[in-house]
Amino acid sequence: MEVKKYKDKQEVAQQFSEHLSSLISKNGKVNVALSGGSTPKAIFDYMAENKERFDWHKINLFWGDERCVPPEDSESNYKMTVDHLISKIDMPETNVHRVQGENTPSAEATRYSQLLSEKLPVVNGIPQFDMVILGMGTDGHTASIFPHQIDLWHSEQLCEVAQHPESGQNRITLTGKVINHAKEIVFLVTGDGKQEKVAEIIHKTETAQEYPANLVAPQNGQLYWYLDEKAAWNL
Ligand code: 6PG
Repeated sequence: MEVKKYKDKQEVAQQFSEHLSSLISKNGKVNVALSGGSTPKAIFDYMAENKERFDWHKINLFWGDERCVPPEDSESNYKMTVDHLISKIDMPETNVHRVQGENTPSAEATRYSQLLSEKLPVVNGIPQFDMVILGMGTDGHTASIFPHQIDLWHSEQLCEVAQHPESGQNRITLTGKVINHAKEIVFLVTGDGKQEKVAEIIHKTETAQEYPANLVAPQNGQLYWYLDEKAAWNL
């Protein structure tokens, strides 16, 4: 585990972009699972402003979770990524593998699981990402696995249908089976209200056991935490 602390969201964005750029240079082609939320927005804005640093033809985009809404819905993680990144770069459409939030949730969880098995290298029977980007909510959720459904993390499936605890909104989420199989997992955690849980997870306290984000532990890969000052406050 490598913990990297930066001043603010913008510095996290700059430093993470350099990390991704060097991974692409090293690997030649990367399969990346994106997260949603406000932190990635700042990352995507920075990457779009510095788009010449990336060979977009070498990046295949997937999503770690998606809301079960149409792709043009303001809630869609795919739409956020299009607005802040994809619409501003020269990325082949064939490199973009969105979760089809407009589909019936259970059917889409199955479809996306099959897509991962087709598009990603399968190692020891499980599709393997080069990098999975994750955020963490103030409740300790990650991807779309929330504390009230923490058992979804241990599913034998690659993708599951989850529900947001307040809104009940259906989500498609990767499970721990594929997330922890990645070569790299990068937590991008910024903002208020997370510092205690970040410290509990990194220091492996007993209270952390109820947080899905605490279950992120790559079997053979590397785990990075990119934190701003607010999220790293208690470290
Ligand atoms: C989503 C995200 C979610 C996000 C966290 C943190 O679909 O909402 O995937 O898991 O990563 O809620 O979001 P912020 O970066 O906005 O704090």
